[in-house]
Amino acid sequence: MFVKTLTFVAAMLVAGAAYANDPAPVSQDDAGKWLDANGDPTYKKEADGTVDYYTWMGYKRYTANCMACHGPDGMGSSFAPPLAKSLQKFDYSTFAGIVASGQQNKWNTAGNSVMPAWGTDLNVMCYMDYIYVYLRARADGAIDRGEPKKPPLNKTAKEAAYSCLGFTN
Ligand code: HEC
Repeated sequence: MFVKTLTFVAAMLVAGAAYANDPAPVSQDDAGKWLDANGDPTYKKEADGTVDYYTWMGYKRYTANCMACHGPDGMGSSFAPPLAKSLQKFDYSTFAGIVASGQQNKWNTAGNSVMPAWGTDLNVMCYMDYIYVYLRARADGAIDRGEPKKPPLNKTAKEAAYSCLGFTN
């Protein structure tokens, strides 16, 4: 599963797929993840404000793994960019490539600006799509700051993530 994810990321990078930046959810995969017309992960928000499971869990995972540098709710900090803005210019494969391989001195060219590579950290790699859809929703202004309205548990998604993490439950 982990190797598959990496292979997929690498394939996406090589393909450099053209990106129509329309977040509208048009289909769902077997684990209930919403996809846009391009087949990229996207968010879905119900009329009452409830978000899909991936977006909600993405908020949790962003807060656990990225917030220390990138600030609460993707708002940025003095030393790391506001990802709620960055995602307005990055498509899915660009995002996934940066998260897996890191980035240095591009956002801040003054030097010593380092985004770590997370490619071997399952706590990030198993939740790549979750974090992406959360930040995509933030970038589109679809959800406010703070925890989005919690959806019901998606057991299939949860089990897939646990198996990616190597948990036996
Ligand atoms: C130790 C601090 C740190 C952590 C933790 C961190 N980042 Fe970063 N990240 C940075 C810095 C610093 C940059 C800017 C690097 C540069 O100047 O090119 C960056 C840049 C990025 C960029 C490129 C943004 C742009 O506008 O150029 C993305 C995407 C990104 N990070 C995603 C994440 C995600 C997702 C997580 C959590 C899984 C995360 N980062 C965790 C420090 C961090």
